[in-house]
Amino acid sequence: MERTLILIKPDGMQRGLGGAILARLERRGLKIVGLKLLRMDEALARRHYAIHDGKPFFSGLVRYITSSPIIAAALEGRMAVEAARKTIGATDPAKAEAGTIRADFGMDIGRNLVHGSDSAENAEKEIALFFSPDEIVSYERATDPWITES
Ligand code: RTP
Ligand code: MG
Repeated sequence: MERTLILIKPDGMQRGLGGAILARLERRGLKIVGLKLLRMDEALARRHYAIHDGKPFFSGLVRYITSSPIIAAALEGRMAVEAARKTIGATDPAKAEAGTIRADFGMDIGRNLVHGSDSAENAEKEIALFFSPDEIVSYERATDPWITES
């Protein structure tokens, strides 16, 4: 099973879309294995987006991602990284395909609602930035959700 890190970014939270965005990813078949509400500080933002350090949009990106509380979620599923990014859509909402989260809820590349890890390797690193190992919870012994056992 693969995992991915999802962030509901400040614009998603301020517009009251946190639940709707998570619901789409859950409905797709991804399971929530870690979940928290937090406000990123500058140090965490700089680590999370370190790959973009030096780019013209970096300081604006750090200011934006630290500007309000966000939801961080670790989601698990088969090909979780690719599946989540397909459901999220292209970076620029104006160019994203209809039916994706970014196309259906947004218009601006700097206000694109949601983050999804771009590789399984980066997902594990990103999850470790937001969650300690004991905050990732297993469904190993979950019972059948449809039928009461006799
Ligand atoms: P994310 O990391 O947030 O899931 O987004 P992504 O993979 O689709 O895009 P990425 O290239 O990693 O860019 C990270 C975030 O930086 C902002 N950005 N702004 N103004 C710009 O040209 C620009 N380019 C990127 C976006 O918020 C993007 O999600
Ligand atoms: Mg990215």
